[in-house]
Formats: sequence, structure tokens, C-alpha cells
Amino acid sequence: MTKIRATADDITQVEADAIVVNLFEGVDQPAGATAAVDRALDGAVSSLIRRGEIKGKFGEVGIVHSFGQPPLISAGIVAIAGLGKPEAFDADRIRGVSAEFCRALRKLNCRRIATILHGAGTGGIEPESCAQAITEGALLGLYAFTKYKKPEHEDIAEILLVAREEGLVPLLDAAIDRGRVAAEATNLARDMVNEPANYMTPGRMAETAEALAAEHGLQCKVLDREDMEAMGMGALSGVARGSNQPPKLITLSYKTDASSNSGLGFLGKGITFDSGGISIKPSDGMGEMKSDMAGAAAVIAALVAIARLKPQINVTAVTPVAENLPSGSALRPGDVLRAMNGKTIEVISTDAEGRLILADALCYARKLGLSPLVDVATLTGACRIALGTRYAGLFANDQDLASRILNAAQRTGEGIWRMPLPDEYREQIKSDIADIKNTGERPGAAITAALFLSEFVEDTPWAHMDIAGPAYGNKESGYLLKGATGFGVRTLLELALQEAKSQEVT
Ligand code: BES
Ligand code: MN
Ligand code: ZN
Repeated sequence: MTKIRATADDITQVEADAIVVNLFEGVDQPAGATAAVDRALDGAVSSLIRRGEIKGKFGEVGIVHSFGQPPLISAGIVAIAGLGKPEAFDADRIRGVSAEFCRALRKLNCRRIATILHGAGTGGIEPESCAQAITEGALLGLYAFTKYKKPEHEDIAEILLVAREEGLVPLLDAAIDRGRVAAEATNLARDMVNEPANYMTPGRMAETAEALAAEHGLQCKVLDREDMEAMGMGALSGVARGSNQPPKLITLSYKTDASSNSGLGFLGKGITFDSGGISIKPSDGMGEMKSDMAGAAAVIAALVAIARLKPQINVTAVTPVAENLPSGSALRPGDVLRAMNGKTIEVISTDAEGRLILADALCYARKLGLSPLVDVATLTGACRIALGTRYAGLFANDQDLASRILNAAQRTGEGIWRMPLPDEYREQIKSDIADIKNTGERPGAAITAALFLSEFVEDTPWAHMDIAGPAYGNKESGYLLKGATGFGVRTLLELALQEAKSQEVT
């Protein structure tokens, strides 16, 4: 685990394997800390800029080996982090920059590094936001899933955030703590999603949630197949029928007001493997469908972060978890299921399973009295086609809730884009033999999926995040890595923190 702390010092004098300063793109005369380092190195940095070797492009990490020249400079390596164009600079770019220089220095076997607070000066960003962003970027960018394979590089042991004023240090340390909680929760979600489906079964998801609840003082309740059937959750138990792995409905609660059962409700789709069922998917890339529980992982991890930061608000996560496989006992196209609220559903495609399990989970969350509801789901390939891998689609029946989520996303840098929920499309999911059917036409499939969910929320304020695009990646860029991204965790956490704050005022 990488330690991160703030200290007040002169960056040229810090004892570390590497120090990190920066450069905006288009600047040929370094200023501030970069200029101080340049002077200590007898103009080496400005000469590399002149020669075009260091350009300050976003994500670039220029390396100068000083081999340590006390008393001018103590670190053996100076890294010059490219901040990109000044007009494009923001907190999210700091996360990206931090991830890049941390990985570059890890490759150079640095164990202890020291960095200035990028952007806190000319960038116009508050030092605390900056410290939090550097922390998040570092911990997210250095993440590796190492359970089944030795890591390529040794971890960076310590990162020092170097400020000029001693008085800032306690504030910066508090910001570092918040960043650590957010990043560690995101990495927890990544670990759950990166686990193969032969390990991360519904039963393992439940055990994981129970262990986390015990560790962080959350309440945890797990419903089994018999409980679900007794409560009339025919949609969830229907999806689970084809697998030998029994389904679970996991409820995790964080309560500050024990007298009240209400509170913010987070729901997450937990399909531990989505083969499509009898409506089986093509085999190419099917292994990626181990990530179809990314929504469940995100809400469970968000609750862990909330338990650590302790905002004044009740939050409950509800995650239906099942495996979608074909077998002699599997759900078939044409079958009719009855959800907990009594609505009957004609199954057109067994591959549209996420909305089925969420239907029962939404009914259950409403019965618990939770409001507003926010669900997170790798729901449709169509949403991934529409928005790509950097943006989730946001659907909501409540303008204000949608704005609060978009606001939270703005602060965390997670790409979330509002999508419409037009009533005109509802006829696509009308069934001849049941109250509703589980698919519409191919055009607008992300929208009809969301409309399907809306049939189970009635008038409760609700928002749905389709994370099929950003949940899982196949290239490394900034703080996003290959495999699970942990998308959604930081925005859900931020939303809970903001909701707690706004309730304080009223
Ligand atoms: N889990 C998939 C959606 C998905 C696709 C997530 C690609 C991540 C990457 C979901 O269960 C699914 O199969 N959806 C179908 C719905 C269709 C049958 C209406 C889809 O999007 O093709
Ligand atoms: Mn599916
Ligand atoms: Zn699915």
C-alpha cells in the first residue's frame, strides 16, 4: 500500500528517489517550482524544452536524471509532468497527470517520490482539491489486479505532497484522506469486477458484502432463493433458474438516524456472468461478461466509502445478484414472470436479464421506504454504442435528482450524460399476453430498457445509470486501466456527501 502525506518543504531539498514538477503546454519559460528545479540543474529543464523534448502535453512525463546534486537538489530523478493546455486544465486532469507520473516513476523503480501541488498556483485550483485529486489519481493509476499474477513492478512506498506553507499541511492531510477513501473504494469495486465468474459467484458476492459490513460497521442482510420466492420476486428468481449458483439479494445499510428506515437507496445490477441464457451471446468476447456485476460492485463499494467518511445521512444499497446461464432449467424466451409488485413480464430475450432482476430489486427498495433511488447497471450494449466507453447514460424521472447526480459527476470527473425517457416509446414494451415485455426495438434499446425499469418505481424519484460503456476498459489511459474501472463509485459517494450537506442546511 502506498502511503501519501503532506509536508512543507522546498521541493529541491526533499529527500526522495524522484521529485515531480510540471509544465503547461505552450510554455517555454518554466516558472515557480519548475523554475527553481531548472536553476538547480543549471538550466537542464529549459534546454530540454527548447529542444522540444519536453512539451508539457497532457499526460507526458519528462525525465531528467540529476543523480542527486546536493546541496542544489537531493533527488536523483526529476520528473516534469505535462499539464496540457492551461484552458483545458481542471481537477480531473490532475488525477490523470498524477496517475501517469506515478506509473512512470514506478517503472523506474522509485520507492519514495515527492510532488508539488500541480495546478494549485497558476492552475487556480484549491490546494485541498488538488491534494485530493493527486491522491485519487495516484491510487487509481497504480492499481493492479494481482491475485492470480505477480505484479510487474514493486509498489511506490510513499508519496509526499510538498506545500510551501506549514499551515496548509493539516488541511492537505484531510484532503488526502478523503481521496484515499474514494480511490480505495473504487479499487475495491475493481477487484470484485476483475475476479473471474468462477470465483465471484452470487454466493461470494454475498460473503464479500458480509465481510465488508462487519469490517466497516454496516448492516447487512442477504435474502436467499426461498426468501425471494416467498416475497414474490419471480423476475429475479426466474433469471437465476438456469444456473447452479443460487441467487442472492444483498442489502447493505449505513445509518446515522436509526429511528428512520428511509434514506437514499442505491441499487446495482449483479449478474456475475451474463452468457445471455437461452438467447445466448456470441462467444467472441463473452468473457468480458464477468463484469456484468459492476453496478452491484459499485454500490457496495460506495457504501464502504460512505461508512468510512460518515456523512449525516442514511444510505442503503440493494443488489440483486444472479448468474445468467442456459441449462435444462433455464428461463426461456416466451416465458412469463411475475415481479414482486404483481406485474407480469413476457420474456422476449433471456439476454435482457438485468432489467428483470432490477425490477424486483426496485420493488423491494420501495418497500423498504428508500427514496430517492439510484440504480447503476451494465444494462445495454446500445448505451455503450451511443456514448462510448467514457460516458454512462443517465435516465431519470426527476429533474432535480438528475441535476444533483450530474453535479456530483462534474466534481468526480466521471462522464455522465443525460438521456431522454420519452413516453412515446413505452408502446414498444407492451406485450400481447402480459403487462409488459422485456425488450423493445433495436433503435433506442438503452431507452426502452430504462423505460422498463421505470415501470417498477411508480412515483418515487429515481435515476438510472447505464454504465455498460465505462464499466470495463481495454486500454490504459490516465487513472483508467485495462479491465474494471470502478466507474460510479466516486460519483455515488459524492452524491451521498452532497445530499448530507444539503439536508444539514434545511
Ligand atoms: N449485460 C448486457 C449489456 C452489456 C453489453 C454490458 C456489452 C456491457 C457490454 C445486457 O444484459 C444485455 O445483454 N443487453 C442486451 C439487451 C437486448 C437483448 C435487448 C443488449 O444490449 O444487447
Ligand atoms: Mn444480457
Ligand atoms: Zn447483462
